[in-house]
Amino acid sequence: MNGAGGVLGWLEASPLSLAMRSSLWLYPIVEIFHILGFVLLVGSVAMFDLRVLGWSRSVPVPALGRHLLPWSAASLLLIVPAGLLMFSAHPHDFIGNRVFQLKLGLIAAAGINALVFHLGIYRSVAGWATGVPAPPAARLQALASLAIWAAVVSCGRLLAYT
Ligand code: HEM
Repeated sequence: MNGAGGVLGWLEASPLSLAMRSSLWLYPIVEIFHILGFVLLVGSVAMFDLRVLGWSRSVPVPALGRHLLPWSAASLLLIVPAGLLMFSAHPHDFIGNRVFQLKLGLIAAAGINALVFHLGIYRSVAGWATGVPAPPAARLQALASLAIWAAVVSCGRLLAYT
């Protein structure tokens, strides 16, 4: 297995990949789990971002974060295995697909944005938990998060057409 071609070649020849390509129902069932996963992820992230942007100011931001963050983390247990399974069906096609590359890049950007948010401005959340606008930096990051995840979902859907 020399280099990426070797790994992808090995993956494409694997019984798992073969099953994902030959079974009528396996790929769509796996895609349903992928969809259920990102509905949970993007849904919980969007609800948190909309709160930071100023909706429902009576809802304490930290309490909402404590409720939603574990669900968005848990959703990765569905999204990533299902995504990798679908990837394994046509690894060469997906790895060479600009939309797929953009999707993975956007997912990385969303992760970095969330990390900078939680390690940065979110440390001052006690000062803007309820009733007052969040600091401009927090609102900017919430807006960026919404835009990036919308782009990830768009890339995911467009994969079937590219
Ligand atoms: C983490 C956030 C992710 C989101 C929000 C997301 C979103 C999506 C969406 C919206 C679709 C189209 C579903 C459909 O129209 O039926 C999709 C399909 C797909 N995703 Fe993801 N995805 C994510 C992560 C991943 C990861 C980590 C991988 C793999 C490395 C991956 C691989 C795929 C593949 C291979 C498809 C199938 C394309 C097709 O056959 O149409 N996704 N994803």
